[in-house]
Amino acid sequence: MKQKTQTKFQPRGSVVAALDLGTHKIACFIAQVVDDEGGLEVVGVGYQAAQGIKNGVVVDIDVADKAIRNTVHTAENMAAEIMKGYPLRDVVINVPGLQAQSHNFSADIQISGQEITDLDIRRALARAQEQVLTNDRELIHTIPVSHSIDGNAGILDPRGMTGDKLEVNIHVVTGDLSSLQNMATCIERSHLDIVALASSPYAAGLASLVEDEMDLGCTVIDMGAGMTSFAVFQSGQMIYSDSVPVGGWHVTNDIACGLTCSYADAERIKTLYGSAIVSSSDDSELIDVPRLGENGSDGEHSVSRSLLIGIIQPRLEEIFELVKAKLDESGLGQNLGRRVVLTGGASQLPAMRDLAQQILDKQVRLGRPIRLNGLPDAVSGPAFSTTSGLLNYVATRSHEMPAEIMESADSGSFFEKFKRWWKENW
Ligand SMILES: Nc1ncnc2c1ncn2[C@@H]1O[C@H](COP(=O)(O)OP(=O)(O)OP(=O)(O)O)[C@@H](O)[C@H]1O
Ligand SMILES: [Mg+2]
Repeated sequence: MKQKTQTKFQPRGSVVAALDLGTHKIACFIAQVVDDEGGLEVVGVGYQAAQGIKNGVVVDIDVADKAIRNTVHTAENMAAEIMKGYPLRDVVINVPGLQAQSHNFSADIQISGQEITDLDIRRALARAQEQVLTNDRELIHTIPVSHSIDGNAGILDPRGMTGDKLEVNIHVVTGDLSSLQNMATCIERSHLDIVALASSPYAAGLASLVEDEMDLGCTVIDMGAGMTSFAVFQSGQMIYSDSVPVGGWHVTNDIACGLTCSYADAERIKTLYGSAIVSSSDDSELIDVPRLGENGSDGEHSVSRSLLIGIIQPRLEEIFELVKAKLDESGLGQNLGRRVVLTGGASQLPAMRDLAQQILDKQVRLGRPIRLNGLPDAVSGPAFSTTSGLLNYVATRSHEMPAEIMESADSGSFFEKFKRWWKENW
């Protein structure tokens, strides 16, 4: 069912910015809100190879800080006219799938015959947040998935109805607090403020799924460098997310080991000649592979394309089998829907759709960002779905932010305590 708690769109004319800290690349997009429903026009972009960050964890703060500043400056310069010379300050950042955890709860609120208001729904959401609050997890998303009144399920919008008990099924996503704090420290050094966090697969889905897919049930799989994360959408909402710690980096690494070449050569060979499935013609095609540590054509040897793809395919099969096992374990059953959308930089090998279809047994399509106007061609591919979706998230779904929910729920002693805790931690 569609979420009906009050949607808050960023006001027309406001500027929003996203910083996507990936394992392979760092990207910053700046956009302006151009209508009253969170529509966005991109006004600045910057991206470069990731440095100092691995799987969303800061491993070298000086190097990461420098890379973030460079990326942000490039986007700022492009957006200078819209920004009127002011530096970028507020950014939404991604929480990598590996650090996020998905929890489903049901929360009851006594209504006692009164009309149900938005505040009642927010109380239920706040109660779900209370259940997951621990010292080592940070709240990222709180999403109402379905409502029932006095046991009658399937209610689209309970506001304005009456009953004794409102039950809300809620999807909460939390992130690893210490990794997020390190990331926040690094970002603050770059003179930026984090105004929102969004989980990577959620952002990838918001960017690349069409509305019917989100409504009817669809899984988006974001194939990054260090991990493959995925989110299930149903009735317009994200109802589940998870990840596996294997991605395009592992494929490249397998090639470097298997063909005894450098990582850089393996990356180039993968992109130029790789495929997800071996075909009979691949036996006759030869590829020159530079030997490790040797220069010039003397240091090259030839291998068949089928040997290369024979290295790639098992790793990709492993990724889809791990994803399938997690989806099977999720207990979502029919709610998973029949469709899968593949996105992320590592989804770009030829025949990837066919391989995914064989293993996942779903209808599969390739996805890229579709909800931003003015996205330059260089950053309009699947590697930038998460970056794009961070902007869509902050422009249209800020009502799902845990702090926002706490602000608008009632102020029992727990909530006051939580708000203090939130402020002290951030
Ligand atoms: N044309 C291509 N064909 C195959 N793989 C590609 C291609 N272009 C990029 N990749 C792979 O995509 C991966 C990078 O994807 P992406 O930019 O989505 O990762 P990331 O967001 O930085 O990482 P993560 O989300 O895991 O932190 C790399 O492993 C790279 O080898
Ligand atoms: Mg990514």
